[in-house]
Amino acid sequence: MKFTFTDTCRLSNNEIEKTAKILLPYLKHLQLVADKNNYDFAESSINLPFDEKSANEVKNLVKKLKTKKLQYIVDIGIGGSNLGTKAVYDTLFGYFDIVQPDRYPKMIFLDTNDPEFISRIVALLKRIKSPEEIVINAISKSGGTTETITNLEIVLASVGKTIVNTRFVVTSDKGSKFWNFATEKNVPCLEIPTTVGGRYSVLSPVGLFPLMMADLNIDSLLAGARSMRNKCLSKSVLANPAIVSAAILFLHNTKGININDNFFFHPELESVGKWYRQLMGESLGKDGKGITPTVSIGSTDLHSVGQLYFGGPKDKITTIIGAPSAETVVVPGNMTFPLVAHVENKKFGVIMDAIRQGVAATYDNLKLPYMTIILDDLSEKSLGELLQFKMMEMMFLGKLLGVNTFNQPHVELYKIETKKILSR
Ligand code: PA5
Repeated sequence: MKFTFTDTCRLSNNEIEKTAKILLPYLKHLQLVADKNNYDFAESSINLPFDEKSANEVKNLVKKLKTKKLQYIVDIGIGGSNLGTKAVYDTLFGYFDIVQPDRYPKMIFLDTNDPEFISRIVALLKRIKSPEEIVINAISKSGGTTETITNLEIVLASVGKTIVNTRFVVTSDKGSKFWNFATEKNVPCLEIPTTVGGRYSVLSPVGLFPLMMADLNIDSLLAGARSMRNKCLSKSVLANPAIVSAAILFLHNTKGININDNFFFHPELESVGKWYRQLMGESLGKDGKGITPTVSIGSTDLHSVGQLYFGGPKDKITTIIGAPSAETVVVPGNMTFPLVAHVENKKFGVIMDAIRQGVAATYDNLKLPYMTIILDDLSEKSLGELLQFKMMEMMFLGKLLGVNTFNQPHVELYKIETKKILSR
């Protein structure tokens, strides 16, 4: 992964370094968390990529449940309990599911209460011929989330008893009511460490189990996260991407820039953007503070919000995210409609790169601030690096903003009101 910011972030290295130095005591604390390598701290999610016991539990369960006939992994969870999994799955498989109808296994995500979607899922589940074609994974840290439990109940009621008894896995906090009910009913349970909050849990069984069931390489995902964690613990602050990115976002925030746009030049990364939206939104949006995360897709959104970004209010700092493509599709040399110059025989990836560089050049010309992340490739390892980078960036940014990065007290508000309405 290549992370660049000098000049383009419109701040001097001196300014960044000065702010970054404020974080040195917190960096020391994170180093202690890493040295302890346990789950005693709010930041203990940084130890997940090193947790072999947890990864092995996932692997053993996958071994038991993985079959050649497996077609669907039904992933039931919301917010931190599914967004990270969806980010990885969509980047490598999900975005392409519509054009690869015969590629199995596929993941089906059930998060919100959508009567139209669930009724089609029920119809699909009724067509399952053998229990081996399906695995159901319900993920809820608290076990009390209305959307997750109601989606789960409908799914369980639509599949036969054999599936409920043999092809159903619960992921939760050990000792939660959900965990206790499930163990009473002999449903296998995977543990989310208590101190690991939903939006920091993608590298726990929350993400690892369904992703491995879906043929994704969790060892590579974890290896990427491990190497990035160590980089983000570096004391040499300008070489520490999480500290630098946090300092840049913070410094712009102090100057009234309250929007961080994540501009992805690979549409399959859109779900990573949605994962980041939650990470930033829930971690920072409190005490009247916060930065609003937005997700843009290159080049699609240049034809919708590009005008606003280039010509509208200067209220955003952008993170441009790209990756080289392994594909070799080219525009034909002998074009039927030779209406656009310099594209014949060009690889599609080269055209996309030119668009990304064109956007960066436009930001430069307009003196708009941005940082750039270029992943080595679109692989589990690169995704592990990116997710770990962003989770640690958020810890540093929360510290700079002076908020509790790990709670989300206001999310409860709608849950309380919803329960009141349902009880009438
Ligand atoms: O990040 C978080 O903590 C939240 O988004 C939760 O993941 C979300 O509210 C779902 O909660 P639970 O996993 O308890 O069902």
